[in-house]
Amino acid sequence: MKNSITLLNKCRICKSQKLFKFIDLGPMPIPNGFLEEKDLNKTESKYELSCLICENCELVQLSNIVNPDLMFKNYVYVPSVSMMMMDNFRDLSLQAYNDFGLNQDSLVVDIGSNDGSLLLFFKGHGTRVLGVDPAENLAKIAKMKGIPTEVKLFNSKNAKILKNKYGQADVITATNVVAHINDLHDFFEGVSDLLSKNGVLITEFPYLVELIRGNEFDTIYHEHLSYFALKPWLKLVESNDFEIIRLKKLSTHGGSIRLTHRRKAGKNKKTNSKIDFLIAQEESDFYNKKTLRGFATRVATLKIELLNLLNNLKKKGKRIVGYGAAAKGNILTNYFNIGPEILDYIVDSTPYKQGLFTPGKHIPVYAENRLTIDRPNYVLILAWNFADEIIEKEKDFRKNGGKFIIPIPKLKIV
Ligand code: TYD
Repeated sequence: MKNSITLLNKCRICKSQKLFKFIDLGPMPIPNGFLEEKDLNKTESKYELSCLICENCELVQLSNIVNPDLMFKNYVYVPSVSMMMMDNFRDLSLQAYNDFGLNQDSLVVDIGSNDGSLLLFFKGHGTRVLGVDPAENLAKIAKMKGIPTEVKLFNSKNAKILKNKYGQADVITATNVVAHINDLHDFFEGVSDLLSKNGVLITEFPYLVELIRGNEFDTIYHEHLSYFALKPWLKLVESNDFEIIRLKKLSTHGGSIRLTHRRKAGKNKKTNSKIDFLIAQEESDFYNKKTLRGFATRVATLKIELLNLLNNLKKKGKRIVGYGAAAKGNILTNYFNIGPEILDYIVDSTPYKQGLFTPGKHIPVYAENRLTIDRPNYVLILAWNFADEIIEKEKDFRKNGGKFIIPIPKLKIV
């Protein structure tokens, strides 16, 4: 893909051209495209951001595909800044280790391995590990932690290279990464090649039903090409001769699911009551234009409510800052038009974001301790998926009279 953006003209799973647009966020900068001060006067590229549902297989997907090189080569997001994410990774590694009898000969490959956080737990259990990630900056960090990492996008071509070099994997993990992949059939082809005969694939992704229910519109951005409910995911899995053997609901990223897959054991379709129940629920409540349009309307209402609140506070002379320079925060501030005239700055614990400015709105990002020194009146939690963790960590801010504003799922002041 040479162009910076390509229009999607058919569903990436079933190839149907019957695509219905249900939310349009307009042109948006790349959400992790943080800027240095010297670049603030340069023109920033913006790319259309809108979401479609396939009327055939029900996959929700973006209408455009931005060239991955623009988004993933130098990546600033790391999960290791959150205890919640680390607890979840520990849980995943323990589940896999216990369920599949892993030992020091087993190979665990993590697709989208980021800074090696998940594989560090597997390494702790004594298995062999390999990370695959296109972000050169993060691979360096992973390698410093002792996690061998191949700087590559995962696809069927690269899976062959990995198999020849390292052998087949007993476990392949792919957390918060399948949404980034354009050709999902090719992804499964690569997994099928790299995975040993009895190996398992464990994926985690935000569950679309929670996204819609919880008004999580700001998790819609260029990096996330697909938004999965179970029905289209299962269709994809089965059409690639895999089956789901386990499902676990997670609280990460506003409500996610962890799915364990293996090669289809026989010709008969396996039934799983948990999956059947969720798909039946999706079909009765969810796959209709009314529900999806209702979501877009709630987002528009949220915009009015939040802007009213922030503007009133500013009129009263209150000082407001943001917490968490999350990609989702950059979507929220851009779509709601919240700039440095409202948020003095955003604090964030990620060292790679500190000292930079947010894409589009150019709000400066500082380290978290700025809050203690500066004592603003209100903090808008942009990383609302970590609201509990952040409020607990910053309890002194509240003790000293500060208040938190949580925008999603519903506007709330605490
Ligand atoms: P996250 O919601 O995980 O992802 P995304 O970028 O995909 O929207 O991002 C959370 C951001 O919040 C991340 O930049 C780290 C930051 N953060 C803090 O600054 N302090 C914290 O205590 C936590 C939990 C997160």
